[in-house]
Amino acid sequence: MSYSLYSPFVSAGYFHYNHQNHTSPPPTTSASPPSLYRRRREGSSYLTRSLDPMEVGGLDSKGKTFRSAKEMWREEIGEGDETKKTQWYKDGVSYWEGVEASVDGVLGGYGHVNDADILGSEVFLRTLMQERLVNGGTNQHLVALDCGSGIGRITKNLLIRYFNEVDLLEPVEQFLDVARENLASVGSETHKATNFFCVPLQEFTPAAQRYDVIWVQWCIGHLTDDDFVAFFNRAKGCLKPGGFFVVKENLAKTGFVLDKEDHSITRSDPYYKQLFRRCGLHLYLTRDQKGLPQELFAVKMYALTVDTPPKVHKTRSKTRSNRPQIIK
Ligand SMILES: C[S@@+](CC[C@H](N)C(=O)[O-])C[C@H]1O[C@@H](n2cnc3c(N)ncnc32)[C@H](O)[C@@H]1O
Repeated sequence: MSYSLYSPFVSAGYFHYNHQNHTSPPPTTSASPPSLYRRRREGSSYLTRSLDPMEVGGLDSKGKTFRSAKEMWREEIGEGDETKKTQWYKDGVSYWEGVEASVDGVLGGYGHVNDADILGSEVFLRTLMQERLVNGGTNQHLVALDCGSGIGRITKNLLIRYFNEVDLLEPVEQFLDVARENLASVGSETHKATNFFCVPLQEFTPAAQRYDVIWVQWCIGHLTDDDFVAFFNRAKGCLKPGGFFVVKENLAKTGFVLDKEDHSITRSDPYYKQLFRRCGLHLYLTRDQKGLPQELFAVKMYALTVDTPPKVHKTRSKTRSNRPQIIK
């Protein structure tokens, strides 16, 4: 996916495998090689033509260009065609069912970025907890939801240390089974994985007011725009007061990149912001993930809140200048 752990655009007119940095392909049990190893090309004809992100063109992993996201979605899921949309989701899950249930597998062969990813997430999470939760969350019973959790990589390496309970949501059964095994030996009575939901995000409604943090990383690209908005709208009521969403995803430089193999899209920053706005969410804080290999997509973390963030002073320091801000 666009979890990409993908590679950068090159001038070739099609995606090709990443021979240049000699990375080996990610482990799969299916015959088709996973798309994470592909480079993406940079075109110029479909660069930003208007300010509406939905009107900005994009391309797919086979090099086909689209004039707009609307055009791409019309082709992929039709208009009101439930059969086509169901197939889109089935194909996405089938792709992951063919991937080895390991860190390397869920990271598209880039298992070695795990440490940098977790470190970036931890710094971001700590800042947010300090600012958003009463007493930074100390002496409270904290609960998180790990969406599209895969084998529980993020829960195991990060969330379980900060939250008393973590629920995992993952549509691929074999990943969730491995997550259960991986998490059986970590944590403690007071820091544990509680629920394992084997269901896709577009069908999930979390329990009301259960979560302090809902973590969505490298999985929301599987959702159509409408299901993206519907999910966050349902999930808003599941946050406790002071709670927040973290969305951590790859970014397309412009428009979007459709992955024909795993049936996901990589959206651009303006595309995300427009969807967050449609969800009625406020952008509280953003950070760029540092330390990933250059050939990968840029990765950004967004913290989103239901409540309106307080106004900031104009004299705020440069390092804090990207927060909090209303999505424009
Ligand atoms: C690149 S992996 C990332 C796993 C995990 N978030 C991590 O960072 O280790 C993408 C995950 O999204 C899951 N996924 C695919 N379609 C999904 C959907 N419709 N809803 C939720 N998760 C989905 C896949 O099964 C897979 O576990």
